[in-house]
Amino acid sequence: MFNARLLLSLVFIVPLATAQSSSPPSNLPTVDPGVFSAEASILINGTVEQVWDVLTDFPSYPEWNPFVRSQVVTNKLLVPESSQEPVEDKRLIITSQIPPLDPPVSADTPSNPLNTHITIENITHVQPELKRVAWKLYGSPDSVLSAERWSAVSAFQDENGINWAFYESREVYNGALASLVQSLEGEGLAEAFEAQAQATKLRVEGM
Ligand SMILES: *[C@@H]1O[C@H](CO)[C@@H](O)[C@H](O)[C@H]1NC(C)=O
Ligand SMILES: *[C@@H]1O[C@H](CO)[C@@H](O)[C@H](O)[C@H]1NC(C)=O
Repeated sequence: MFNARLLLSLVFIVPLATAQSSSPPSNLPTVDPGVFSAEASILINGTVEQVWDVLTDFPSYPEWNPFVRSQVVTNKLLVPESSQEPVEDKRLIITSQIPPLDPPVSADTPSNPLNTHITIENITHVQPELKRVAWKLYGSPDSVLSAERWSAVSAFQDENGINWAFYESREVYNGALASLVQSLEGEGLAEAFEAQAQATKLRVEGM
């Protein structure tokens, strides 16, 4: 007699197992989910080192990044550092476009002044061994608005044995103003994270 339960599990479990094996495990830390988050991830045909270099080469952001048009490492007095390497407890002055510019962009692509945001951030984590870095909105009490953006790059081999670099980035928003930010900027931020992920892929794959 044919076993309906076995058939059901074959039909439903096999596709699930396939979906799981093709979905890369996350290398982002587990953090409080907050009020909302903006995130994106993408598989890139390149090495983890190549993607990490693009992610942490802030001076080159204007050449390719449709979301973050400039990201400058500064000291505590907001004076730019001569080395633009990310270092914990240094500040960042970030000039971004929310929603993002239409890709592709170059250093000469004009920004839309109506969509320009300037924020000061603190570099909270630099983990080159784990290929993870994070920065957090500076100057606003966490109870009012907190926003920490983690980015990570990891190696992934798909079910066909092809090697990829897996780029992920997520910013979690919390505090009394987070739902206001979500209603004003939530959609634009989601587009912006996606645009940066796509542009990172193009940048690395075009190298
Ligand atoms: C990845 O790029 C290499 C060239 O660097 C190419 O030979 C290969 O086919 C690409 N792989 C995929 C899956 O696109
Ligand atoms: C900035 O981040 C560093 C590293 O996590 C931390 O030690 C420092 O207290 C932070 N600074 C501020 C002003 O929040």
